[in-house]
Amino acid sequence: MDVIRIEGGHRVEGTVTVEGAKNSALKLMAATILAPGINTLTNVPNIADVHVMGKVLTRLGARIEVIDEHTLRIDTSTVDSWVTPYELVAQMRASTAVLGPLLARFGKATVAMPGGCNIGARKIDMHILGLQALGVEFDLDHGDINATAPQGLHGTTVALDFASVGATENLVMASVHANGLTVIENAAREPEIVDLANMLNEMGAKVRGAGSPIIEIEGVSELRPVTHRVVGDRIEAGTFVATAGLVGYPIEVLGFDPAHLGLVLRKYEQMGITIERKERGVLAWREKPIASVDIQTLPFPGFPTDMQAQTMCLLALGTKSCVVTENVFENRFMFASEIQRMGADIRIEGHHAIVHGVGGFSGAQVKSPDLRGGAALVMAGLVADGVTTVSDIYHIDRGYERFVEKLQSLGAHVQRVTLPSK
Ligand code: UD1
Repeated sequence: MDVIRIEGGHRVEGTVTVEGAKNSALKLMAATILAPGINTLTNVPNIADVHVMGKVLTRLGARIEVIDEHTLRIDTSTVDSWVTPYELVAQMRASTAVLGPLLARFGKATVAMPGGCNIGARKIDMHILGLQALGVEFDLDHGDINATAPQGLHGTTVALDFASVGATENLVMASVHANGLTVIENAAREPEIVDLANMLNEMGAKVRGAGSPIIEIEGVSELRPVTHRVVGDRIEAGTFVATAGLVGYPIEVLGFDPAHLGLVLRKYEQMGITIERKERGVLAWREKPIASVDIQTLPFPGFPTDMQAQTMCLLALGTKSCVVTENVFENRFMFASEIQRMGADIRIEGHHAIVHGVGGFSGAQVKSPDLRGGAALVMAGLVADGVTTVSDIYHIDRGYERFVEKLQSLGAHVQRVTLPSK
């Protein structure tokens, strides 16, 4: 079992470069199914979730060649299956992103129904309702969703109840070959959706309005393979900006567009963190105590739920009280219970967390509750008194490439340690 061991109190500063966005890379990999032939993706993060998506595509018949650590050549001309089994969907929920592309290419798809996960029920009802409107028929068979479009997919208007990222992406990908015009209202506006639409358009699709609440897709008969660079990871970047706010010393975070972290950076400025924006990154540091600021998560351009734990870590180190409201996922406060072991004072009331700043943490043994919560616990360890050990770090490996090495390069006393199995 691997753990991350952090010795708190050391100076952490310098420059760090983020990888391509996990949440974009996974969908772009799925989208290569739409353009039979050799597609090349660059700036792909080398993380566990990307490896799982690689397995999904290979299982469908694609051939993947790793050109270098961050470049994948994906030949989708050989894709001859439309079945994604439970063993893969259970490893990574985002495997369901192949549903839309498989329907567009083959008019059928079998994808195991994802179960609940540790940040809430995470249903896919909006994916299903939207695809039904496009002419897809579903039946649930022993835990598998069988989707077929006997008459092909036809364009229509789909209004989402909530601006779901996954549902928007599946609908955009499913409708690239649909007959006529598809309109998605209340579409998600995340930068990763824009990246997906850009790649689809480079392939020859006609997707307009990505990044706005209304996306229009005009069906075309075929798409051609492309080479595309994955957008920089705004959440990995935000994690390092939060680290600068926590330790106080200057950290320059490069490789992403600061506009993608708009509200996060403005909230951090209100908290007393200085942010210098650059073309491809920011420089952040803090000279004053952390000011308490209320936060509520919302779909983009609101405050990202994927930055909630790292931000709560900062607020817990403040000296006043504030409220963090989670509006995107039920049950995403597991980090709050864990950081209490390090002395934080956080009370959960439904989807609100009342955070009383305690001014300091004490090192402890803690467990990663999920991907972002795990990273936030490592961050807390950097400023804690004594030694912190974070276990269940496979969560962190899912989405952060060389997290420990990057922190070491900033001067942190942090190590990955393999414990003997009992
Ligand atoms: C994606 C991101 C995740 C991020 C989230 C919100 C990936 C791989 N993951 O997840 O990191 O936290 O966006 O920014 O890109 N919902 C339904 N029915 C549906 C679909 C969603 O009820 O059919 C609910 C979910 O349970 C959740 C909320 O809508 O409460 C938001 O989910 P969604 O935006 O779809 O998130 P994901 O695409 O799963």
